[in-house]
Amino acid sequence: MSNGPEHETPAVVMPRPVDPQRRLKGQKALVTGANSGIGEAVAIALGAAGADVVVNYIVNEDAAQRVVAAIEAHGVKAMAIKADVSKEDQVQAMFARMIDAFGTIDILVNNAGLQRDAPLHEMTMDQWTLVLNVNLTGQFLCAREAVREFLRRGVRPEISSAAGKIVSMSSVHEVIPWAGHVNYAASKGGVMLMTKSMAQELAEHRIRVNSVCPGAIRTPLNQPAWGTPEAYQSLMTLIPYNRIGEPEDIARAVVWLASDESDYATGISLFIDGGMTLYPGFREGG
Ligand code: BGC
Repeated sequence: MSNGPEHETPAVVMPRPVDPQRRLKGQKALVTGANSGIGEAVAIALGAAGADVVVNYIVNEDAAQRVVAAIEAHGVKAMAIKADVSKEDQVQAMFARMIDAFGTIDILVNNAGLQRDAPLHEMTMDQWTLVLNVNLTGQFLCAREAVREFLRRGVRPEISSAAGKIVSMSSVHEVIPWAGHVNYAASKGGVMLMTKSMAQELAEHRIRVNSVCPGAIRTPLNQPAWGTPEAYQSLMTLIPYNRIGEPEDIARAVVWLASDESDYATGISLFIDGGMTLYPGFREGG
């Protein structure tokens, strides 16, 4: 076969080698909802990996400042910014402040999320809209601002092989239906296709968009699911690996997706759930 120009493949662009101690050295990250639970662990892990981190929060400034101090202990910069991710003007103001302070953004972790549970026939409009506004619209508004900056700046090969990385915090409930939580499951189903559609649209600009799908994680959000021995036992019937997840289990996955070690991954849903999505009801029977 001829090796003429029509058969030439594009130059191979290999991801740069990553320092395993400081995978995110020189990168600027923003984590929404970072003053508790999964967001807190993610923000601290990004700092430990060498990134400067913005800790977004909406209530409890003291907790946000504690997370800032824990990040700074790793010898990087951190700052807390209050903003409601479901409000366009507040999101834009937050990104402007971050870019003013840190110069740019390389990593967005769209983590902020909440639950307002009710049986469908009792679910109020407020419960529906709050969950959709924060969990889905909030991720859109933050992703849009981050992508505008990624596109403006482009790739800086000495910092990262990608122009930017977005990690969406999804859930096992992007695929597992959840009675009594229809608003939440709808928001996470939306996050799933929003993430994959953004990944498809933005890959040509070397912007990677992936999601992490936690199962049951020990955080204030789902305290009723693990807070008593009875609740914990019942939860274990859903988890083949037979333990609850810890926020750090999720943080490690986010650091990987944010780093060049995952440079060829885009549009994936990475389930970190102790096997919750493995149809554990089928361990016997079927
Ligand atoms: C929810 C938790 C729940 C877990 C597993 C998460 O997305 O926020 O409340 O325990 O899914 O069902």
